[in-house]
Amino acid sequence: MRPPRYDAGSIALHWLHAALILTLLGLGLTMTDLPKGAERSAAISLHKSLGVLALLLFGLRLAWRLTHRPPTDPRLTPRQHGMARMGHRLLYLLLLLTPLSGYLSSSFTPYPMRVFGLSIPKAGYPDETLNALFGTVHSVLTWTLMAVLVAHVAAVILHQRQGIPVLTRMLPGRGPDC
Ligand code: HEM
Ligand code: HEM
Repeated sequence: MRPPRYDAGSIALHWLHAALILTLLGLGLTMTDLPKGAERSAAISLHKSLGVLALLLFGLRLAWRLTHRPPTDPRLTPRQHGMARMGHRLLYLLLLLTPLSGYLSSSFTPYPMRVFGLSIPKAGYPDETLNALFGTVHSVLTWTLMAVLVAHVAAVILHQRQGIPVLTRMLPGRGPDC
């Protein structure tokens, strides 16, 4: 029996979001090692622009998710369903809080907030303590997100090895969508 798949919109949003988040993690981890200068400033500026984009994409994805229920997978036990639901909720929470903390951290600096050169409103005023506080929160959340993502991919691989290929649910292709 072919498992019911996610709808095309959910699949497109999942992989677009995944690519954006992986780029942001890679950029975030490498830019902090760069020496102060033009290259570092450009990397941080790109990180902020992509980060705000990730926050907007989260809004779109949440709206899509609330109006498009994912299909239940009859091959999973109720316990496996419960764990997947919990893991996905945690991912959604981190996909909101991580960019939000980055935005807040950058809001409490003297620099303007720009998204691909375009000025956008800030939620704060220059304050070193709040900048450092939200910066630490942002760092902790990014590491938590990385750990949860490793668990997410491990769960997919584990299910594949158990003969339950859940990956096909999240891949484009022919077959019944929900
Ligand atoms: C930054 C990377 C990623 C993020 C943020 C992410 C996030 C998510 C979220 C939030 C869901 C729940 C979707 C929903 O029910 O609305 C999900 C489902 C899923 N993801 Fe990912 N994901 C990422 C990477 C990956 C990768 C690399 C794979 C493949 C190994 C993958 C495979 C899946 C599958 C198969 C599901 C559907 C599980 C099911 O319900 O059967 N994801 N992902
Ligand atoms: C989902 C979205 C985001 C991800 C995955 C992400 C990821 C990261 C990572 C991995 C780091 C390095 C943390 C460390 O070294 O401990 C970082 C640092 C940083 N991020 Fe983000 N980020 C996101 C969104 C944002 C947003 C929206 C902004 C601001 C608008 C932002 C601003 C910053 C800043 C200012 C730093 C610190 C740079 C420094 O230490 O000089 N991030 N981010």
